[in-house]
Amino acid sequence: MNVTTAPTENVWTIVVAAGSGARFGGPKQFSMLGDRRVLDWSTETAHGVSAGVVVVLPANDADREGGVVGGDTRSESVRRGLAAVPADATIICVHDAARPFASAHLYREVISQVHRGADGAVPALAVTDTIKQVNALNVVVSTLDRSTLVAVQTPQAFNADVLRAAHASSPEGTDDATLVEQLGKQVVVVAGEVMNRKLTTPEDLEWARAMTRTES
Ligand code: CTP
Ligand code: MG
Repeated sequence: MNVTTAPTENVWTIVVAAGSGARFGGPKQFSMLGDRRVLDWSTETAHGVSAGVVVVLPANDADREGGVVGGDTRSESVRRGLAAVPADATIICVHDAARPFASAHLYREVISQVHRGADGAVPALAVTDTIKQVNALNVVVSTLDRSTLVAVQTPQAFNADVLRAAHASSPEGTDDATLVEQLGKQVVVVAGEVMNRKLTTPEDLEWARAMTRTES
């Protein structure tokens, strides 16, 4: 299905769900959230805004779930997913399965920016805490200028050729925009969503479960 904001594009989404959830204490993507799993929330929204979705999973789960096997790092998992995206995709979104509440609207916003010419587009929220740089001894080195900082989320959308080029040398980064930036390409920011919190710890899942209870 094409999105209304970009009817001429062939949009594919890679949902990365191959992590082990070390900070959570297990593979959080399979935890129940309301009536379905965290992973199901993420893939369902992706299907609604994409011509196709590639789900990247741990080796033991890929066959059962109908996905591709991920790698040791997030970047490597994205590359495994990229290999399964058809060559004629024109825009590729990458989304963390661990962000179950990303909205279809948010996908449309980042896709629309790429459709209009950006190399990449990412959702982000203003930083509200004071952010300090510390050294290995936990001593403050400096205080960063908060007004120039944003906290970045997924889904991130990219021109397909740009994303493939960004991954060509197998670089590592905590998101895909980092790799695209390293090519000297332009990544634009759209308004992120407070509800689009990444589930990292068990407390995050408790929060998400409370949200599904208040919404139903
Ligand atoms: N991910 C992945 N392959 C990896 C590592 C991460 O597909 N080798 C995915 C995760 O499944 C998650 C997303 O990337 O949906 C964001 O990663 P993160 O929140 O760090 O999840 P984990 O790596 O599983 O958690 P942790 O870092 O605590 O181990
Ligand atoms: Mg991780």
